[in-house]
Amino acid sequence: MHFQLNEEHLMIQKAARDFAKNECLPGVIERDEHQKFPREQVMKLAELGFMGMMVDPKYGGAGMDTVSYVLAMEEISKIDASTSVCMSVNNSLVCWGLQAFGNEAQKEQYLTPLAQGRKDGGLYIGAFLLSEPEAGSDATSQRTTAEDMGDYYLLNGTKNWITNGSAASVYLVMAQTDAAKGSHGINTLIVEKNWPGVTVAAKENKMGIRGSDTHTILFNDVKVPKRNRIGEDGSGFKFAMKTLAGGRIGIASQALGIASGAYELALNYAKQRKAFGKEIMHHQAIQFKLADMATRVEAARLLCLRAAWEKDQHLDYTQSSSMAKVYASETAMWTATEAVQIHGGYGFVKEYHVERLMRDAKITQIYEGTSEVQRIVISRAILK
Ligand code: CAA
Ligand code: FAD
Repeated sequence: MHFQLNEEHLMIQKAARDFAKNECLPGVIERDEHQKFPREQVMKLAELGFMGMMVDPKYGGAGMDTVSYVLAMEEISKIDASTSVCMSVNNSLVCWGLQAFGNEAQKEQYLTPLAQGRKDGGLYIGAFLLSEPEAGSDATSQRTTAEDMGDYYLLNGTKNWITNGSAASVYLVMAQTDAAKGSHGINTLIVEKNWPGVTVAAKENKMGIRGSDTHTILFNDVKVPKRNRIGEDGSGFKFAMKTLAGGRIGIASQALGIASGAYELALNYAKQRKAFGKEIMHHQAIQFKLADMATRVEAARLLCLRAAWEKDQHLDYTQSSSMAKVYASETAMWTATEAVQIHGGYGFVKEYHVERLMRDAKITQIYEGTSEVQRIVISRAILK
């Protein structure tokens, strides 16, 4: 066993760190304030191959491993969690789901441009549509229907909280074809945003990740060709669960980045700010906070890398990705809150960045399965 990153990992980490500093930091406060989607940043990430990191190069991807993905997600999330959630959804929910479970025709038509993040010179990304107004954690109780009409499905219903809702061109939609079969009656369909009957509805006005575009999406008699179903009839819920297991590594890494970003800002501030005749880092109360932050961030990082390594080794990573997500997200919330405390009053204003990190941290405990859902997944795994 060794704990060192290889040359390639270090190179990817540096590229992501430089990208975050040079491309994401400028304007991050304004994008947050005005809820502006980071289109330019995402286009540039696509150029770097960071929108399809784990996709096979034969489908337009960068062919990197999941460890590289964790490293890149951490670096970008240190500075801009709105950009990194867009990257996470496209990489681990949309591209990975299509690569693992899509057929050749679907991969050629959809995965290739999605992994490149571009088509015809414009942005081309995807979204993952599971949640509904009445079904979030309890995802099997969804009500969107995909009625089997022979050679097509008729899609009707409402999905909400959809990340990349308006920026995406392609939606992976989970819908009930046979409600009597419960989770075995659900299908996942590839739906194009510009098809008749698809409406991008209200945009959410959020506490955090305000640059990310979160929308309600409506489907009204949308005709989806049968060839756009992913996998066997009734396999849509398993598709969602398996894909989310990998997605949770992405969100865990996002949380890790928010935590490590907040810790680094607090550490630097503690070295400069003086109170009672000395830099505040010389007060033991501050030292202990920094020690706890550094320890928790490192523990979160190890859990993220462990889950990524298991995925790369084709082991079962369901439990480890939930452990990484619950621990990293709770670390992000705690660390960002302590970072604000270390900054005193300056932590409460926008210029110092930590207040944004604190607001951004909260969502990591909610999406891709709340902390309670992660504990359900972990406890089921350890008790089975
Ligand atoms: N892999 C394969 N199959 C799985 C699975 C997995 N990880 N998890 C469950 N399944 C299968 C089960 O084996 C079962 O199949 P069988 O009947 O054949 O045994 C079927 O799926 C139903 O599973 P459960 O009975 O465990 O289902 P449940 O109703 O008890 O729910 C749950 C389990 C873990 C709570 C699940 O509903 C869940 O994960 N909820 C949270 C939903 C979620 O994470 N949403 C995120 C939306 S995307 C998002 O949020 C993106 C973003 O923000 C950026
Ligand atoms: P509920 O399920 O109603 O839960 C409410 C509370 O009850 C939570 O604390 C929950 O943990 C708790 N609870 C529920 N059941 C149990 C239980 N059995 N045991 C213990 N506690 C329980 N969804 C998508 O499909 N795609 C997206 O791209 C997407 N992006 C999102 C972006 C944002 C900004 C937000 C806010 C949400 C996004 N979501 C997305 C939805 C997200 O996944 C759900 O909000 C989340 O799964 C929780 O569902 P809910 O909001 O309906 O809460």
